[in-house]
Amino acid sequence: MEDDTVHQLKRRATLLGMRRLFPVTDETVARPGGATAGAGPAVPPGDREWTPEELAAAYAYPETGTGGREPWLRANMVSTLDGAAQHDGRSQPISNAADMRIFGTLRGLADVVVVGAQTVRQEGYRPAREREAFAALRKAAGQGPAPAIAVVSASLELDFSEPLFSSPLVPTLVLTGAAAAPDRVAAAERAGARVVIAGDGMGVDPVRAVRALADLGMSRLLTEGGPRLLGQLVASGVLDELCLTVSPMLTAGDAQRIAGGPSVAVPRRFTLVSLLEEEGFLFGRYCRDQPR
Ligand SMILES: NC(=O)c1ccc[n+]([C@@H]2O[C@H](COP(=O)([O-])OP(=O)(O)OC[C@H]3O[C@@H](n4cnc5c(N)ncnc54)[C@H](OP(=O)(O)O)[C@@H]3O)[C@@H](O)[C@H]2O)c1
Repeated sequence: MEDDTVHQLKRRATLLGMRRLFPVTDETVARPGGATAGAGPAVPPGDREWTPEELAAAYAYPETGTGGREPWLRANMVSTLDGAAQHDGRSQPISNAADMRIFGTLRGLADVVVVGAQTVRQEGYRPAREREAFAALRKAAGQGPAPAIAVVSASLELDFSEPLFSSPLVPTLVLTGAAAAPDRVAAAERAGARVVIAGDGMGVDPVRAVRALADLGMSRLLTEGGPRLLGQLVASGVLDELCLTVSPMLTAGDAQRIAGGPSVAVPRRFTLVSLLEEEGFLFGRYCRDQPR
């Protein structure tokens, strides 16, 4: 039989909306009804869904560099308790509504979404949509109506007749190496994609990719993986931030972790800068300890 206290705690957790668990200060302790203790910026109450504006404030890109904007690359990934980055080949079964709201918020703030070709093929990627909730914010930040999607691919074995390439709101980018097959490059360009060379061989060099996007005026970078791409971004030292959703699920099996490929020589240390919670899902923001 279930213990009463556990039952009550579980019931309370499902009734609450989003809560900020970290950082916790006098200013961040939300009181019932939405009032916050002490002075300082208002913190959304923990008993309702946060508005898009509140989420956008919680995930604002840092002002980097002096004068112009230095690129800032954040990743957004979801993992189960046992480290699975997908179930049945997709991330949707391990996500929830709050995770999707944060996913949408991170897109709403980004100039470009960098994604590996396998995730595009497997998840059936479509162009990013214009979202009313972020329209004013994007305009004020000098951004277009939606982020561009930048697909990283060596083979360019992509279906260029898909809406992602043929009818996006802003042209889709294809990041590839100088040795990419010319007929596939031509097919991408015919479909309307902008091909960006960011490597000398078949593949893309992550450092060059970040620089190439910054040179195109895109400094608020978001990557949505997948694990094989993210592993390279980690190994090459270009990842500034990880937005990690920990899903309260166990899947066992042999799913990929959120980052794959060869391991780095020394584990990269990140610092927790914020932790939100809704329905038992944890939403962490971790930033790199060392500058690039
Ligand atoms: N949990 C999460 O948050 C999350 C997020 C995203 C995806 N996923 C899941 O992850 C799975 C797919 O991920 P994945 O790791 O297999 O694949 P991926 O990282 O999405 O894509 C790998 C592909 O990207 C291209 N690529 C990667 N690095 C490259 C480089 N340096 N230069 C040129 N091209 C490069 C290659 O494409 P070509 O083969 O075209 O050359 C490669 O086959 C799916 O099951 C998806 O659901 C989970």
